[in-house]
Amino acid sequence: MSRKNILITGISTGLGYAMASCLLEDGHTVIGSIRSHNADIDALSSLYPGRLHLLTFDVRDNEGIKSNIEACLADLGSLDVLINNAGIVVPGPLETMKIEGFKKQMDVNVTSIFSVTNACIPFLKKSSQSKIINMSSVSGIISNPFLGAYCISKHAVESLSDIYRRELLPWDIDVVMLQPGPIKSAIWKKSIDQMADVSAGPYAPYWKSATSLVHKTEKKALDPTVITNLVKKIIRQKKSKTRYIVHRNPLMIRLVAYWLPDRWFDAMIKKQYRKILEK
Ligand SMILES: NC(=O)c1ccc[n+]([C@@H]2O[C@H](COP(=O)([O-])OP(=O)(O)OC[C@H]3O[C@@H](n4cnc5c(N)ncnc54)[C@H](OP(=O)(O)O)[C@@H]3O)[C@@H](O)[C@H]2O)c1
Repeated sequence: MSRKNILITGISTGLGYAMASCLLEDGHTVIGSIRSHNADIDALSSLYPGRLHLLTFDVRDNEGIKSNIEACLADLGSLDVLINNAGIVVPGPLETMKIEGFKKQMDVNVTSIFSVTNACIPFLKKSSQSKIINMSSVSGIISNPFLGAYCISKHAVESLSDIYRRELLPWDIDVVMLQPGPIKSAIWKKSIDQMADVSAGPYAPYWKSATSLVHKTEKKALDPTVITNLVKKIIRQKKSKTRYIVHRNPLMIRLVAYWLPDRWFDAMIKKQYRKILEK
């Protein structure tokens, strides 16, 4: 198997950390972005000296991204795979969400992919058969209430990925999306910590129920190996699909996303709301 240079954003925790560890174990060189060091990253770094290159930047800092990536990749020569992974969840109903929260969601999940990808493209063009893997979500194809800003950001990731793939066709740079459902990671705790206080507002009863649904969903989340195994497969493949749903029940997701009439989905949600009010 050929060893590749792979850049992953957001490797401090969760899926980014899991992908970095398993790709290093497979012998690849990983360029991983972090905002700050933690014990796991330091341990990984000392396990793979010379093959894990840590870049420190916030994905909202376009200049920091460009200078860090250019300096590192000028040294390595070329980039074979870019994995745009860094992301956050800013939960809450759109009506009561602060504009700062909404903008942060878009900056971290969408604009960052534009900045990182554009910084990497000159180096991806130097590799034959290079790939970009963008971390979308089931929330990129299904719009759920109280997760509005996140869903909007992931829908944007879907469109951005299709556009990059079509614009980069002359250079054979493929763009693939992962659309995971719930996967065990730090994102759950982080999003609960971020939950806006809507307990006294008009959405209070629904919000309480949405919060307990988050806890229940987290318990049933899949292990990150479903993502690392898929990423390893995509990296090896000559031809990949453009999108991969990673879920316990992918057929159900496809049904809801592409076949269920909007009004039926609305009616199902409204029925849930009625049940919540009756409690
Ligand atoms: N876990 C799931 O169920 C799930 C499902 C579908 C899609 N996804 C997507 O998978 C990706 C990874 O999520 P995860 O579950 O692994 O969550 P996670 O454990 O919270 O990891 C998110 C990573 O993004 C980094 N990050 C966040 N804001 C950043 C910023 N402003 N600048 C630089 N780095 C930043 C975090 O760094 P810090 O430690 O510095 O914050 C962390 O390394 C996200 O795009 C997420 O939307 C996850």
